[in-house]
Amino acid sequence: MKKICVIGNPAKHSLSPIIHNYWLNKYGIEGKYEIKEMKNENFAQFFLQIEKEGYSGCNITIPYKEKAYELVGVRKRESEFIGAVNTVWIEKGQLIGSNTDGYGFCENIEKSIQGFDFKGKKAVVLGAGGAARAIISAILAKGAEVTLLNRTIEKAEKLKNDFTDKGIDTQKILIKDWEQWEQILSLANILINTTSLGMSGQEELKLDLKNLPQEAIVTDIVYRPLMTKLLLEAQKRGNKIVDGLGMLLHQARPGFEIWFQEELKARGIKNVEVSKELRSKVEEHL
Ligand code: ATR
Repeated sequence: MKKICVIGNPAKHSLSPIIHNYWLNKYGIEGKYEIKEMKNENFAQFFLQIEKEGYSGCNITIPYKEKAYELVGVRKRESEFIGAVNTVWIEKGQLIGSNTDGYGFCENIEKSIQGFDFKGKKAVVLGAGGAARAIISAILAKGAEVTLLNRTIEKAEKLKNDFTDKGIDTQKILIKDWEQWEQILSLANILINTTSLGMSGQEELKLDLKNLPQEAIVTDIVYRPLMTKLLLEAQKRGNKIVDGLGMLLHQARPGFEIWFQEELKARGIKNVEVSKELRSKVEEHL
C-alpha cells in the first residue's frame, strides 16, 4: 500500500490528511496519508531517506519548505520563484520538488468565478512573502498586471529583483507604498491579500474599500477564519469574494495526481475533483 505524508512542525493540525484521505476513499485507492511531525534536527535525514521510510512522496509544510527546496534532487520551475517546495515525489530514486501554491490560487479563482481570465487583469497584491511569490509568479504567467504593496517595501523590491534574475518579465510588476493602498484600489480588477493579517490571533487588516470598483473580485489566502474581515467588508459592498480554503484544496490536487497516477489511470480518472462534499468535510475541521 502506497503511503504519503506531510512533514512539518507543528503539523498536528494539518488539513492535508483530510483532503488526501477523502480522495483515496472516494476513488477506492488503497493508500494512506499520514502526518509526520518532525523536529528540526531530524528533518533532513528523514526527508532524504523518505523512500526507505516507506513513503512514495510527501507534502512539506512550515517550517521546512525552504530546507526541502535545498535538499531535493530536481526543482520544478514554479518552486524556483519561491525558493520553497510543498510537494515532493520520487522518480528513479530522486526527490523531485514542486510548489503548487500558485497553481492552487489560480485554480481557486478560475473555478469560483465563472469565465474569469487573468489575462490583462490588474491585480493589487498585499504582501511580499512566500505566498505572494507563488501567487504573483503564477498570475504574471497568465498575463495579469500586478501592483504590489508590502509593509516593508524593500521586501517587495527584492521579490521583483529575484524574479528578474530568474527570467520572469517583471515589467508588469509595479511597487507602491503600503500607505497608498486605498487609492490604488480604484485600479483593481482583483484584490489579493497574501499577508497574515486577518488570521485568527493576528492583527486585522484595517481597510477602507471605498475606492474599489464594484466589479472587482476580492480574495484572501487566510482561511482561519474562513470569512475574514476583508471578505465580509467586500461582500457587504457587493464585490464578488473568493475565500482562501479553495486554494488549499486546489494546491493539494497536483500532488495526489502524481503520487497516485497509475491508480487514477487504471480508473480512467485524469483529474481529481474538489467537490462541495470535500470542502464541507474540510470546513468541519477549521
Ligand atoms: P508567507 O510565506 O505565508 O507569505 P511570510 O513570508 O512571513 O509568510 O510573509 C508574511 C507577509 O505578511 C509579509 O508580506 C509581511 O510583511 P513584511 O514583509 O513587512 O513583514 C506581511 N505582514 C505580516 N504582518 C504584518 C503587519 N502587521 N502589517 C503589514 N503586513 C504584515
